[in-house]
Amino acid sequence: MTAKRLFSAFLLGATLSSPAFADQDPAVEQRQGQFKLYVHNFGLMGAMAQGRIDYDAEAAQTAATNLYHVTRHDQSRLWPEGTDSFSIDGTRANPAIWENLDDFVEKFTAMQTAVEALQAVAGGGLPEMQAAFGPVGQSCQACHEAYRDEAS
Ligand code: HEC
Repeated sequence: MTAKRLFSAFLLGATLSSPAFADQDPAVEQRQGQFKLYVHNFGLMGAMAQGRIDYDAEAAQTAATNLYHVTRHDQSRLWPEGTDSFSIDGTRANPAIWENLDDFVEKFTAMQTAVEALQAVAGGGLPEMQAAFGPVGQSCQACHEAYRDEAS
């Protein structure tokens, strides 16, 4: 499934969430929940990459495969318009996302591509995993710098 398709109903979501109910929109906690699962897996590989825990090929491969799957979760109902940090509390999603949707999707796609490369080698040895881990971290960071508010 292409990222374009993952986001295809993106704008449709706008019609489903009126501002009056935006504070309660479950999409915000749900998209934050997916990111928590990214870290659940990304963090384990990061600890191995940095030598804080021993490299374990099977655990690294499992984490990379998990990350591969969670980063392919359909995004179309997770980003309804009106759920940006200027409009509601409880989110760090900058309004610029909705003004630059193509770029946001591009950054999401770049992350998926980097994760796919990591998934292909994570169980194949520590140096291989380390080499593929860096680009994933950079892809997360590139989007956060552009579209995620600082933690308050
Ligand atoms: C295309 C953009 C994009 C990419 C790529 C991306 N993020 Fe995020 N991330 C966001 C945005 C936007 C938020 C804020 C969501 C909100 O608060 O509604 C966020 C929030 C988070 C959070 C906080 C979740 C919470 O509990 O509130 C974590 C952790 C996180 N991202 C980790 C990652 C990791 C790890 C990666 C890479 C594997 C990644 N993100 C890739 C855009 C992105």
